[in-house]
Amino acid sequence: MTDKRLSPPRLPAEGEATRRGFLKGGLIGSAALAGGGLLSSAARAAEPDPAIMEKKDWNQFLGVGVDAAPYGQPSPYEAHVVRRDVEWLTASRESSVNFTPLHELDGFVTPNGLCFERHHGGVAEVDPAEHRLMINGLVDKPLVFTMDDIKRFPRQNHFYFLECAANSGMEWRGAQLNGCQYTHGMVHCVQYTGVPLKLILEEAGLKTNAKWLMAEGADSAGMNRSIPLEKGLEDCLVAFKMNGEALRPEQGYPLRLVVPGWEGNMWVKWLRRIEVGDMPWHAREETSKYTDLMEDGRARRFTWIMDAKSVVTNPSPQAPLLHKGHNILSGLAWSGRGRIKRVDVTLDGGKNWVEADLQGHVLSRCLTRFYLPFQWTGDPLLIQSRAIDETGYVQPTKDELRAVRGENSIYHNNGIQTWHVRDNGEVENVEIS
Ligand code: MTE
Ligand code: CO
Repeated sequence: MTDKRLSPPRLPAEGEATRRGFLKGGLIGSAALAGGGLLSSAARAAEPDPAIMEKKDWNQFLGVGVDAAPYGQPSPYEAHVVRRDVEWLTASRESSVNFTPLHELDGFVTPNGLCFERHHGGVAEVDPAEHRLMINGLVDKPLVFTMDDIKRFPRQNHFYFLECAANSGMEWRGAQLNGCQYTHGMVHCVQYTGVPLKLILEEAGLKTNAKWLMAEGADSAGMNRSIPLEKGLEDCLVAFKMNGEALRPEQGYPLRLVVPGWEGNMWVKWLRRIEVGDMPWHAREETSKYTDLMEDGRARRFTWIMDAKSVVTNPSPQAPLLHKGHNILSGLAWSGRGRIKRVDVTLDGGKNWVEADLQGHVLSRCLTRFYLPFQWTGDPLLIQSRAIDETGYVQPTKDELRAVRGENSIYHNNGIQTWHVRDNGEVENVEIS
């Protein structure tokens, strides 16, 4: 791009984003339209452009040396790409949540420093030399492992998404939060390196009546969850690395449980103990929390799997449309049941659907990136995406969800999201029925 007005940083502070985005977008939009679309701005390379004609500091002076950043940081022009929280959402800083800036990312891997965080008792700062993993309960020999012991087991590498069951939870009763970061940002996808839990359980030896596991964290919340033994033996990992480097403290350093496709709350961080039992524990997090009250007063119990879901990340309220003519719509889809098979996108509130391109790796229980090139005439749009996974499950509308589940729920809202694009390019979270 040669148009200087396109230079970063583009996203202003929260709240004023769409207004300023519109003003800049208006200028660029009409220029692009006059020349007949995207390629016309490239054609203007023939005109004298100060970005080329003027000398810049970085052309004339030596750059900084290799010792400037022993641990690399993003460009200062990317300083707006950060996790953000919603103040009224949680009681304290320690029992809190922040959100992945999905509208600023591409591909399907979440950078470690941008993975959303959810803690019930703050970030535990664990010394790995003093961290232990205990296996006890219905086993032949209770065992205690150091971190070094764990790293001597055969290990595996897997990409998986982690989604908090409460992702989109504030949207059950209607459109509320303006930005996919806030409506859908309790999800991340990284490559985990870890030891299959099966190998560790086999080392301890399971008693014949073993049926359930209880995973417990070393944080001040001592968070714990019951997990069926079958799942523990099938694909759970005891992970110590994410995207090749040690887990970040906020993601459970030095050890976390990975429970592929299942709700984030079960992925116990700072994992210190796994007890083997013959019944579930009915811990706080699987009774009063992470349980949805239905319309008739009954509660849904043990809702572990994250159903197929998708969201258009661009355009979205934090990423307004800046250009008329050619644009690229982009988004993410995922399913706790396997691979994403197809993503349909509508620009007119569901009258017409087009199949989006699934780009790059389409892996089981991973975020999957989709794109759809489109021409924007400047007319308002109602954008939605609908994910279909390899089991044939189709992402429902919010009304279809409410018809079955009522409106008391917080968790497992995988309904179709609608973005309303106004004629000025601003985007708003809305619902249509
Ligand atoms: N494990 C412990 N020990 N303590 C916690 O507070 N939060 C859980 C889970 N594991 C939590 C925990 C919840 S609700 C979620 S959604 C995920 O961790 C969030 O993982 P993340 O912070 O790596 O995104
Ligand atoms: Co959670």
